[in-house]
Amino acid sequence: MSVLRFNSVFLLLLVMMFGHSIGTSPSFSVDYENNCFRKDGEQFRYISGSIHYSRIPRAYWKDRLLKMYMAGLNAIQTYIPWNYHEETPGQYNFSGDRDVEYFLKLAQDIGLLVILRPGPYICGEWDMGGLPAWLLNKKNIVLRSSDPDYIAAVDKWMGKLLPTMKPYLYQNGGPIITVQVENEYGSYFTCDYNYMRHLTKLFRAQLGDEVVLFTTDGAGVNYLKCGSIQGLYATVDFGPSANITAAFAAQRHAEPYGPLVNSEFYTGWLDHWGSRHSVVSSAVVAKSLSHMLAVEANVNLYMFIGGSNFGYWNGANSPYAAQPTSYDYDAPLSEAGDLTEKYFAIRDVIRMYSKVPEGPIPPTTPKYAYGSVTMQKLQTVLSAVETLSFSGPVKSTYPQTFTDLNQSFGFVLYRTTLPFNCSQPTPLSSPLNGVHDRAYVSVDGVAVGVLERNKVLSVNVTGNAGSQVDILVENMGRINYGKDINDFKGLVSNLNLGQTTLTGWTMYSLSIDEAVRQGLLGEQSPTQRDPGQPATLSLPAFYNGSFIIPDGIPDLPQDTYVKLPGWKKGQIWINGFNLGRYWPARGPQVTLFVPASILSTAAPNNVTVLELETDPCSYQPCTIEFTNTPILNATVLSQPKLHRRLFTKEDFL
Ligand SMILES: *[C@@H]1O[C@H](CO)[C@@H](O)[C@H](O)[C@H]1NC(C)=O
Ligand SMILES: *[C@@H]1O[C@H](CO)[C@@H](O)[C@H](O)[C@H]1NC(C)=O
Ligand SMILES: *[C@@H]1O[C@H](CO)[C@@H](O)[C@H](O)[C@H]1NC(C)=O
Ligand SMILES: *[C@@H]1O[C@H](CO)[C@@H](O)[C@H](O)[C@H]1NC(C)=O
Ligand SMILES: *[C@@H]1O[C@H](CO)[C@@H](O)[C@H](O)[C@H]1NC(C)=O
Ligand SMILES: *[C@@H]1O[C@H](CO)[C@@H](O)[C@H](O)[C@H]1NC(C)=O
Ligand SMILES: *[C@@H]1O[C@H](CO)[C@@H](O)[C@H](O)[C@H]1NC(C)=O
Ligand SMILES: *[C@@H]1O[C@H](CO)[C@@H](O)[C@H](O)[C@H]1NC(C)=O
Repeated sequence: MSVLRFNSVFLLLLVMMFGHSIGTSPSFSVDYENNCFRKDGEQFRYISGSIHYSRIPRAYWKDRLLKMYMAGLNAIQTYIPWNYHEETPGQYNFSGDRDVEYFLKLAQDIGLLVILRPGPYICGEWDMGGLPAWLLNKKNIVLRSSDPDYIAAVDKWMGKLLPTMKPYLYQNGGPIITVQVENEYGSYFTCDYNYMRHLTKLFRAQLGDEVVLFTTDGAGVNYLKCGSIQGLYATVDFGPSANITAAFAAQRHAEPYGPLVNSEFYTGWLDHWGSRHSVVSSAVVAKSLSHMLAVEANVNLYMFIGGSNFGYWNGANSPYAAQPTSYDYDAPLSEAGDLTEKYFAIRDVIRMYSKVPEGPIPPTTPKYAYGSVTMQKLQTVLSAVETLSFSGPVKSTYPQTFTDLNQSFGFVLYRTTLPFNCSQPTPLSSPLNGVHDRAYVSVDGVAVGVLERNKVLSVNVTGNAGSQVDILVENMGRINYGKDINDFKGLVSNLNLGQTTLTGWTMYSLSIDEAVRQGLLGEQSPTQRDPGQPATLSLPAFYNGSFIIPDGIPDLPQDTYVKLPGWKKGQIWINGFNLGRYWPARGPQVTLFVPASILSTAAPNNVTVLELETDPCSYQPCTIEFTNTPILNATVLSQPKLHRRLFTKEDFL
């Protein structure tokens, strides 16, 4: 008896000691009694900003995070795009610009907490909402559901990712205070509670019982219906023109107690090629932010800095409208990290509610106009096809998709022949709107037209039976929002010539980025001369040029912007780094941000351009231009008429 009694006293002692040590070790939780978060036992409210490390070169992470800290934010929010880290099944990349752990360490060193949004789906105007395109290997996969193939891939990825995140949880001495599960799931048609339950269990198993897990949905009871689930704290998102009372009432419907949280308070808005540049006034943002802070809400400003969709990473909305390379978002820090009037307006609001750090704000980085660079025409895609197709051609009766060809991004060349004489113009058409997304068509080496998803479904061709038809298909970015995210690329349905289905395809999967990096593109040899081209269109072709960073000017290289006057549409690389797509012919974006970190003072900087439609070289200088001023808001030729709203989130703007 007495031994037992002694033991229980000892246990009690242990519990007291242990309990005490819990009191001093880091903790972060939801306080349902006082409607707030609690950090280390103290009432806590975050004022956070979104920054996506995947849209900013690593060299600039620190600068951008410092600017966020100096604005008075105490936290940042970031997505982890699955497809950025697992481009090929089972092959993970967490190095260089993809080193998310380094990003988390920087944030912590600077004094910022982190709200982590690891998906698996992230939306984010990012290709396929962050889901890897190879999930479509199972053609009828139901993404964001309990589909066993989808779940198996998610489990494997999260089994890789989450253990690396666990040491960065606040409880474990790191900066991560909360972790979001899925994203705006209530806006997706599947409404599969078993899927959300599975994710909850998975995140709990990987991250432990303590961490605050949460969901984010549009601020409407209908979104929260499928988006929120027992065990995950429900938060909402809405922009500056929403009725704050009504929006938080929606959150209260799902979460009667606990902190008010707007996980995405829109500081600006996204763009689409061919539509006006989005701008939201600082005054409107500042006023709404102030109202939210006044009711003690936790707020994350989406975006605080948007950055750039380098390479092929942009997403698209449905009906198909691709987002441009810039993700400036009219955010308080510009695409290039510049301090804006909105930055200072937001800082002034934050200052009314909490302490803003003293001391100098890192200045806007200077931009340099390196001037014009003369470009030289190299091979066309057709003449370089053997060089560009590392794996060699694939043949099939009907066209295969990018997925069938194991290619996620970029371009595939589809080749067949005319099955009969077309002495009169004969329509080459995509009756099922299956050109995803844009196709550059030539017959016997003569450019004849461009097909475009939802816009141009037919082009007339002439030629004899047996003439070679080449169709270079560009993937312009996968749909990232809504029911159409299973967005297959390439020729996803048959093409017709007149009433006849074209067959007998040869397809070349093109490794253009690798060829550019390895410097494999040469000049057109005289034996490869193209036949004469029509006046307004030519074969997709490569161009190169170089420029030297001038001597004797301090602090070079500096950031710059590149514009392509007179060029139509294409892709541009500098020193092998894929800067993204340019499309001044469509707008509104005209200049591309060029971070100094990709420039070299040790050697000439090599520029490669792939122009898809036609170069300006026959009627004006064959140049591109490096300038110090961005243009993201050029007038667009025609505002496409949208049959329905692109984004249901606009209901709350
Ligand atoms: C991993 O990603 C980094 C940053 O984008 C890139 O530089 C590197 O080449 C990638 N590594 C591999 C093996 O693909
Ligand atoms: C905002 O919503 C609340 C609650 O639904 C409502 O009472 C109020 O009138 C609304 N305010 C405005 C300006 O519409
Ligand atoms: C694509 O990859 C799959 C699985 O690795 C393989 O079976 C198939 O042959 C590949 N297809 C092509 C066209 O390379
Ligand atoms: C197609 O045109 C060529 C050249 O004009 C001609 O020689 C040939 O007979 C034609 N073929 C058919 C099937 O009409
Ligand atoms: C194709 O040619 C036909 C006949 O010449 C013409 O009626 C039609 O408008 C043309 N279509 C296109 C898309 O150019
Ligand atoms: C462009 O590429 C060609 C062929 O590889 C090469 O000879 C030339 O030096 C390059 N020009 C520049 C400016 O880099
Ligand atoms: C540009 O290409 C030239 C020729 O291949 C090479 O010597 C030089 O190092 C390259 N410049 C950079 C910055 O990589
Ligand atoms: C684009 O933005 C700049 C800077 O705000 C402004 O001066 C210019 O008038 C705008 N251009 C158009 C076409 O809206």
